[in-house]
Amino acid sequence: MTGDLISTEPATGAALWRGPIGDVDAEVAAARAGWAAWAARPVTNRIETMRRFANVVRTKAEAFTDVIARDTGKPLWEAQAEVDSVIAKVDISVAAYSERTAQRRLDSPMGSRMALRHKPHGVLAVLGPYNFPAHLPNGHIVPALLAGNAVVFKPSEKAPAAGAFLIDCLRQAGIPEGCVRLLVGGPAEGKALAGHPGIDGLLFTGSAATGLALNRQFAAHPEKILALEMGGNNPMIVWSTPDLHAAAVLVVQSAFATAGQRCTAARRLIVDNALYEPLVAEIVKLANRLIVGAPHDNPAPFMGPVIDNETADQLTESFLAMMVQGGRPIRHIGRPVADRPFLTPGIIDMTTAARGDVELFGPILQVIRTDDFDAAIEEANNTRYGLSASLVSQDPDLYDRFWANARAGIINWNRPTNGASSSAPFGGIGWSGNHRPSAYYAADYCAYPVVSNESDAARATIGIGLRDG
Ligand code: NAD
Ligand code: SIN
Repeated sequence: MTGDLISTEPATGAALWRGPIGDVDAEVAAARAGWAAWAARPVTNRIETMRRFANVVRTKAEAFTDVIARDTGKPLWEAQAEVDSVIAKVDISVAAYSERTAQRRLDSPMGSRMALRHKPHGVLAVLGPYNFPAHLPNGHIVPALLAGNAVVFKPSEKAPAAGAFLIDCLRQAGIPEGCVRLLVGGPAEGKALAGHPGIDGLLFTGSAATGLALNRQFAAHPEKILALEMGGNNPMIVWSTPDLHAAAVLVVQSAFATAGQRCTAARRLIVDNALYEPLVAEIVKLANRLIVGAPHDNPAPFMGPVIDNETADQLTESFLAMMVQGGRPIRHIGRPVADRPFLTPGIIDMTTAARGDVELFGPILQVIRTDDFDAAIEEANNTRYGLSASLVSQDPDLYDRFWANARAGIINWNRPTNGASSSAPFGGIGWSGNHRPSAYYAADYCAYPVVSNESDAARATIGIGLRDG
């Protein structure tokens, strides 16, 4: 790609931001030149600098919220929550750094000392998604910088303004230019960055399709760290629960928050046949009341548009394709504004239909009925992904069975599938990741352990196996 990348607001189509497509070689070279001095600073200095970054974001919170809302179309209240997560990430990452990768003394024989320390990898590439264009890349960038790496960050081409704002805040906090580089571009620049010999690793958040391609590419490079945070086809089971309104709220929050554009969104509702009719009636009643609108609308919308018209078209077509496969629509997905990507929630009964295992990244919920709880768990696990899963039930024994048998990195009980905490590890199994969970455990992939057996002077004897001499 050459020329400028232009970001338009999904809700209005107005141009929001433009920036020149970056030069991958130049950005990597700048980071290579910058990282050693950053790594050599005392960690207390890097912590101070990152705390200044949190303060810069605090002072710019309103403007940052506005940019995220316009860039993605998400409601202002939700963009504000994203900014709060960006700020909170610093203290959480400082705690994670010291808990998981700080220096330790280990027992050692013969009066010597053994030290466990961690070193940064060097230059880490970060590729970001569009749904949380600040919070999720920030979840790689802050721990990577704290550990002493330099970062080349390529935000999503679908929401670059939020990424550019994030980098401005880091710079204003005093992080040297060589330590954090912004690479503007799309998949071509992402591919070139991932394959660049000057990077020491790649921290990726995005789709399984891209993640699997990167995994293949990095198979030839065991010397580089690769962290993949990918998508999900997440199940929510509702079974043996008296409060169907509360259950419906949990389903709606899980499936339709952020217009379904969360990796942890519930895609499949698996429900006891006995609860099906009344539960679905509650869900539809609630879905009918959800306000779908632009970020700054008053009253505030529950959800905004999806990211662009192409995505809205694909989701609408996927809903129709599921009907062709035998799905029975419970609530048709709607496209209330012809030329903008607003969608209203779509709900479809897929119990007797042929079901594909794809992540439909938007407000579509598939419903599957069954009579048997073991069959419900089997259905929940009927996916190559394994990010998030939730059970709504008043029966703790059912939760025990669910927890023991569900295959996912997040297993919740009477809570939504989404809303993951930054204070805990965040990642999945199967096609949801490569066993390098992010959030609290991001510290683990931002540094590698070095063990040193140390003594002030060379003192050594061979006590056995020597001839007299
Ligand atoms: P995407 O995979 O299309 O793009 C992600 C990033 O990779 C972008 O910066 C893009 O430009 C770049 N890219 C695309 N193709 C590339 C290639 N071949 N080589 C290198 N880089 C490439 O993802 P998206 O559509 O922006 O984001 C939505 C996806 O992200 C969903 O699947 C969602 O589930 C997932 N996601 C996962 C998490 C998580 O933490 N597990 C969080 C949020 C979103
Ligand atoms: C996401 O990162 O896409 C969602 C995080 C969450 O809400 O659980």
